Amino acid sequence: MCGIVGYIGEREIKNRLVDGLRELEYRGYDSAGIAVMQNGRIDSFKAVGKLSNLEEKTKEYSTEGLGVGIGHTRWATHGKPTELNAHPHMGEYSYVVHNGIIENYREIKEKLESEGVTFLSQTDTEVIVHLFEAEAEKEEDLFKAFKATIEQLDGAYAVLLVTQKAPDTIFFARKGSPMILGRNRKGEIFFASSDAPLIGEADEVAYMEDGTVGYVTPKSLYTEPQELLFVPLAGDKMTAQKGGYRFFMEKEIYEQYDVMSDTMIGRVLDNDIYFEEIDEKFLEGVSRIKLCACGTSYHAALTSSYLFERISKIPVNVEIASEFRYKDPLLTDDTLFIVISQSGETADTLEALKMAKDAGLKTLAICNVDNSSIVRLADTTLLTRAGIEKGVASTKAFATQVMVLWMLSLFFAKQRKSMDESAIKEEIRFMHYVPKVLQKSLEVHEKCKRLSKRYLHGHGFFFIGRDIFFPLALEGALKLKEISYLHAEGYPAGEMKHGPIALADAELFTIALMPKTLLYDKTKSNVEELSARDSTILSISPDLFDLADDFILTHPHNHPMLEFFEMMVVEQLLAMEIAIRLGNDVDMPRNLAKSVTVE
Ligand code: AGP
Repeated sequence: MCGIVGYIGEREIKNRLVDGLRELEYRGYDSAGIAVMQNGRIDSFKAVGKLSNLEEKTKEYSTEGLGVGIGHTRWATHGKPTELNAHPHMGEYSYVVHNGIIENYREIKEKLESEGVTFLSQTDTEVIVHLFEAEAEKEEDLFKAFKATIEQLDGAYAVLLVTQKAPDTIFFARKGSPMILGRNRKGEIFFASSDAPLIGEADEVAYMEDGTVGYVTPKSLYTEPQELLFVPLAGDKMTAQKGGYRFFMEKEIYEQYDVMSDTMIGRVLDNDIYFEEIDEKFLEGVSRIKLCACGTSYHAALTSSYLFERISKIPVNVEIASEFRYKDPLLTDDTLFIVISQSGETADTLEALKMAKDAGLKTLAICNVDNSSIVRLADTTLLTRAGIEKGVASTKAFATQVMVLWMLSLFFAKQRKSMDESAIKEEIRFMHYVPKVLQKSLEVHEKCKRLSKRYLHGHGFFFIGRDIFFPLALEGALKLKEISYLHAEGYPAGEMKHGPIALADAELFTIALMPKTLLYDKTKSNVEELSARDSTILSISPDLFDLADDFILTHPHNHPMLEFFEMMVVEQLLAMEIAIRLGNDVDMPRNLAKSVTVE
């Protein structure tokens, strides 16, 4: 995914920009570029591929004294990864870098073209710089011109713009795509789309709110609609990387809003789902899907099995990779083999993928780490774009896996015409609400914190749910046991009476996922059965349930997937708060590794 950096100061500017971009490399990119402004002149360099190519191109170039620079790593969404499409994009006298997507760029482009503007790239970003220059023709105050530009953009953006008309100035704006401004005692100013490039450079940082627009010079900082709120940035890399959170897991739970927007960018359009990685013929000859993964990724696979069958009308089966490997599986070449892995290095999943490839199956990886072994081996990959995940207990990786799989089920539905267009559009309409559902909910967090003290003992937890809430129950139980070391199981709510209910008593805690949009009454009866056996019930639902001992109220939604994502956050926070109270190391739980590269 794209990355942005910016710098104002007296140190050598090119190195500052390239070093900053290197810190963002983990996000994946296919081209990079910088623009440096000094003494009213702008020099710009771009290169396709790795940052080393950009370094090679700029090896003779360096700066001395005060100057301004912006830089970008691009992950192609509109247009191929070419030099022309790489950022910064230029107008007559200005340059821009942008993360996100400008949804109405076609209209803006057509209008500007009719006024005689020539475009060099296929990107949506280029409209910003030309629009700015058109506004600057009408308005002398360049901040007003920049603001007028931003007001015309629909979509998501983090933007930095420099112009020869305002030397020493960087104009910036943020909506739906993260942007951080940092500064230090030496008077240097930094921008970055995530905090990694700022660590060790900035003393304090401001995480911009959506809707922020402003400009900064070495002597002044102006923002609308409110001033930026600066907080200290710890000097030590580890503390700083946690961005004020107690654990990486907590930070990653809170990051889900931003990373989900990244996952969707360029893929979830107004009325359509678009995967440039998959061509129209991808499903030719495919009549079934086999999904294979481990742990949390297996839960994402299981969730999607409901979606693929319901939405894309393709028969699906899901396998735990370590089981699949030794069962002498019957593989037929009409099967699309999908592996899911956060790390892309999980030994069992990798081996399963090799078996599928050897059997001549079409393979697709859903993965968070570009260039990982699984990505390199699969025929096609959809990256989940969750950013680096450090907590051993997977959170944002799971959220983005499920999202990509939901998107894929709709993409296939369209190709197979298994759902009519209006129903697909309706699903997409709900999909757009997901990042909002994931936005931090301090009240829910507080509630989880308070409730956690009641759940530190007992002889076990049952997480129960139906349909897609069954894999979510499995995931809730896995999260809890990984970091609290308490015994927890996930069950389909309807299965309890086939055995597990024998364990029910007051010391057995049932975490009941009770969405209103899917099988509420059925789940309710199952919970009633447990309550009748005196099990202690914590219900997670938008409705109060009078037989529950405790409850966490979620928001009412009109789509099961929205309820799914909100309940997922509740499970993550609850597990984390219980583990914290028990004094455990949440990020590095005992006996576990982030990447399981042995079988
Ligand atoms: C999740 O919280 C786990 N730590 C673990 O189950 C993990 O999902 C599993 O090991 C698979 O890893 P992968 O997604 O990197 O393949």
